[in-house]
Amino acid sequence: MDNTQNTIVQNDFAVDTIEGLTSDSKYLSSKYFYNEMGSKIFQDIMRMPEYYLTDCELEIFSNLKQEILASFSENNESFDLIELGAGDGTKTKILLSHFLEENANFKYSPIDISSDAVLSLIEDLRTELPNLKVNGLIGDYYNLIGDIKPNGYLKKVLLFLGSNIGNFNDSTSFNFLVGLRKVMCSNDLLFIGFDMKKDPNIILNAYNDPYGHTAAFNLNLLKRINDELGANFNIDEFYHREEYNPDTGTASSYLISKIEQTISINNLDQNIHFEKGEKIFTEISQKYDLDMINDLAIKSGFEVVRNFFDERQYFVNSLWKIKP
Ligand SMILES: C[S@@+](CC[C@H](N)C(=O)[O-])C[C@H]1O[C@@H](n2cnc3c(N)ncnc32)[C@H](O)[C@@H]1O
Repeated sequence: MDNTQNTIVQNDFAVDTIEGLTSDSKYLSSKYFYNEMGSKIFQDIMRMPEYYLTDCELEIFSNLKQEILASFSENNESFDLIELGAGDGTKTKILLSHFLEENANFKYSPIDISSDAVLSLIEDLRTELPNLKVNGLIGDYYNLIGDIKPNGYLKKVLLFLGSNIGNFNDSTSFNFLVGLRKVMCSNDLLFIGFDMKKDPNIILNAYNDPYGHTAAFNLNLLKRINDELGANFNIDEFYHREEYNPDTGTASSYLISKIEQTISINNLDQNIHFEKGEKIFTEISQKYDLDMINDLAIKSGFEVVRNFFDERQYFVNSLWKIKP
């Protein structure tokens, strides 16, 4: 890990913020949610009963960890376990600890754009799982994917957990998966979390919680722009809104301007005007069915090896390999 990668993330933040806020339909990239405060608020979100996604994946890992290890590594073959967007690794630790108990031969490389997330995960792992071989990487996984060189000797298992893939739109998820396929060899595996379509009320409650955690998480993006780019957003003049379309399975998060206002971003010498009620699109959280997952796998050059479900079938961890 080095500071150069942090500086690159910082510069990207300025460029992406201006691009998003000056476009006709304003948007901000969800990858910037996770500064120190954002990562803390996301932990609050993950602990809410309404945010069923965490419990589902915890259930899958706790109940099916033996089958998962058997699918990752036949006959105890060595592997590199690389996690994209590892966050605080709470759920992954269930797998890591089981793999160690079973004397699996592997190294764990968590990648995250949030330096706080990577640094505190490494510290936790040193205490909780001292025998684990870890190599943390700070940066954008889009950029770091290119550094994961195809390696014919050691099998790679790429983890993309939670519902990270759901934060991509159709073309981004396709490009991302094709990018992953290019750095994978024939026996490498990709293990991805997908949130399934379900009762719209259950989905809306997860992103519109009564405690205000999701609202605080979304509004924290504006605070981050104030702190890091010298802007003067008044957070009280915006609110969080969630929309869900059951036909497409798309949940979308927005920040809405309560009044007509002009914001200055001093460090970038830019003024941004908002009409009353104008939206900033901040995040997509796509929900899937099995046909959509299969189509995505096939379209991007993979095939589904096995799906691991929780009991309610709210969530699936889908194991993919490259289509021969
Ligand atoms: C929704 S959290 C999920 C964390 C963890 N995978 C889980 O399932 O609990 C998304 C994580 O991905 C990281 N992230 C988002 N966009 C990223 C990017 N482009 N490159 C690297 N990390 C990214 C965030 O910092 C955050 O820790």
